[in-house]
Amino acid sequence: MKIITAKTATEASARAFDIVNELMRRDQLQVMGLATGSTPLDLYKQICESNLDFSRCTSVNLDEYVGLKPTDPQSYHYFMQEHLFNAKPFKESFFPDGTNPDAGEVTRKYDRILAQHPIDLQILGIGRNGHIGFNEPGTLFDSHTHRVALTASTINANARFFENPDEVPRYAYTMGIASIMAAKRIILLAFGDAKAEAIRQTVNGPVTLEVPGSVLQRHPDVTVVLDEAAAGRL
Ligand code: F6R
Repeated sequence: MKIITAKTATEASARAFDIVNELMRRDQLQVMGLATGSTPLDLYKQICESNLDFSRCTSVNLDEYVGLKPTDPQSYHYFMQEHLFNAKPFKESFFPDGTNPDAGEVTRKYDRILAQHPIDLQILGIGRNGHIGFNEPGTLFDSHTHRVALTASTINANARFFENPDEVPRYAYTMGIASIMAAKRIILLAFGDAKAEAIRQTVNGPVTLEVPGSVLQRHPDVTVVLDEAAAGRL
């Protein structure tokens, strides 16, 4: 794992942007794996303000809530539209279909999409409990797209985006750990001291199902981009 630490989240995001920019320049970014949440927002802002053109690129997102339509402001689809796609349209953008309750159908279809669009660069955030995508502790490393019941810690962490905590969906579809590990390159972003322990365990701890991020130690091309606070326990 390569570790990059910058003073602030904005400076760290600029380092991640440099990697995206360089891959685009070398024409090595046909498929980009994207994350939602607060962590990649600065990177997306820097992409939106750049002159990069994604109109020949495909995006695949890590996850989507079950039960939310793409037009629902809380859906991850809507989030990506707002924070990236309105300014930087991709040729095509894929999400697991949160409106379809048939988990078998959704996950089979998304795995087919991922097989047809191998990811050149996956952007990841990490949960305080070490989750990547919505792969909570205990998720098997050979998992592909699946439906998950979100843990209490993740529901609480996400409640800030909803008016009423009862509205936070209880299930999501997520790419699995094997789906993430299949990406050619990965950038893991983490900012703030709330992430410092998850980063310590991910980077320096044992590779264990209890810390899903730790599996990234086995990937040949991971860059971990941190601000000083998130790097505080390394
Ligand atoms: C989002 C995702 C999650 C987040 C993680 C961190 O698509 O897959 O794993 O990356 O929950 O969330 P933030 O960035 O809001 O701290």
